[in-house]
Amino acid sequence: MHTRIIKIDENNIDIELLREAADIIKAGGLVAFPTETVYGLGANALDSKAAKRIYEAKGRPSDNPLIAHIARLEDIKAVSDDTNPNVEKLSNAFWPGPLTMIVNKNDNVPYETTGGLGTVAVRMPSNKIARKLIELSRLPIAAPSANTSGRPSPTRAEHVIEDMDGRIDMIIDGGDVGIGVESTIVDLTSDIPMILRPGAITKKMLENVLGKISLDPSLGKPMADNIKPKAPGMKYRHYAPKAELILVEGSEESVVAAINEKAEAAVKNGIKVGIIATDETKDRYNSGMVLSIGSRNSEADIAHNLYATLRSFDSENVELIYSESFSSIGLGYAIMNRLTKAAGYNTINV
Ligand code: TXA
Ligand code: MG
Repeated sequence: MHTRIIKIDENNIDIELLREAADIIKAGGLVAFPTETVYGLGANALDSKAAKRIYEAKGRPSDNPLIAHIARLEDIKAVSDDTNPNVEKLSNAFWPGPLTMIVNKNDNVPYETTGGLGTVAVRMPSNKIARKLIELSRLPIAAPSANTSGRPSPTRAEHVIEDMDGRIDMIIDGGDVGIGVESTIVDLTSDIPMILRPGAITKKMLENVLGKISLDPSLGKPMADNIKPKAPGMKYRHYAPKAELILVEGSEESVVAAINEKAEAAVKNGIKVGIIATDETKDRYNSGMVLSIGSRNSEADIAHNLYATLRSFDSENVELIYSESFSSIGLGYAIMNRLTKAAGYNTINV
C-alpha cells in the first residue's frame, strides 16, 4: 500500500489538506497524526473493521484496547452514557491535554475498539492538528501510539515513517511532539479513581482535583502471574529498544564508574554498546556510543528525548545499552516507569 505523507504546521493549519486526512478516517482508513504526547495511529473508533486494521498495521495483540480521542467534552457522549461528575472535573482541569479517562462504554463502541472490555478510554488531545482532524472527521478517533507493537513510541514523523510506511493510508508530519511520553491513564470506574499508567498529569495534580487517588498495584512491579495490570497494554514488554537495556542506579560518581567499567569490558568482547548519559555526565564516558538524554535539571527534556534516544541506538544496531537512572518525582515517575519497562526490570544498584 502507498502511504501518503503530508506536512502540516500546527500554527498555520492547511484545513483543505487536513480535510483529506479526515475523509480517509471517515472512509475507514488509517491516518497517523501528531499529539502533544506521542504520534497516534488513528481510525474511526466506532468502526470495528477500522479497529482491526489498526491491530494489523501495528502487529498488536487485539486484546489491547485503544484510546478514543475527542475534540470537545460533549463528544464523550458518542462513546459513553456515564454521568460521572469526575469526568467534568478532570476535563475542566486537564483537557485538552495528556490525560486519558476510563469510563463505561456505550453500545456505539465496538468491542474491537475496547479489546473486549466494557469500558472505554477517552482523551482530548491539546495538539491543534489532532483536534482539528477529529473535528473535521466528526468522529471519535481511536489511536494507539503509531509504532510497531513493542517498539518505542514515535515522537517524530520520521519514527512513524520508519514503522508505518507502506502499512497505512497517510502520515501527517506535524514536527516533533512536545511531551514525549504517553498520557496519564486514570480509571474512573473504580470507587477510588486509579492511575493505570503514569504520565505528565501527576498523581498530585489529580489529587488536587479529585481528592484521593490510588495507583494500580502492578505499577513498578515486574509482571508476575498473580498481578495483572488493569491497562492490558501495560503487560507487554513495551517501549523497548532492540538492544538489551540495563538501568544503573546509585550516586552519580558510582554510576559513571560502574557504567565505564562494564561498557569497556563489553566493548572488549566485541559487543556494540550504547550509554544513556546526561548533559552533566556525557563527557565522562570512555567507550561505547554515548548519547545525552538531556539535563538532569529538566525532566521535560528527558521525557522529550527518551524514545528518540532509544530509537537512535536501534538505528546503529547497538546490542547492549547501559542507562543512568533518574529521579521518580513528578514527570520523573512516568520516565522511570517507561525506562524500567523498556529494561524489562533489569536494574543494577551500585
Ligand atoms: O498519549 C497517549 O495516550 C497516546 C496518544 C496517541 O494519544 N496513545 C497511546 O495509546 O499511548 P496506546 O494504545 O499506545 O496505549 C493505550 C493504553 C494501553 O496500555 C491500553 O491497555 C490502555 O491504554 N487502555 C485502553 N483502553 C483501556 C480500558 N478500557 N481499560 C484499561 N486500559 C485501557
Ligand atoms: Mg503504545
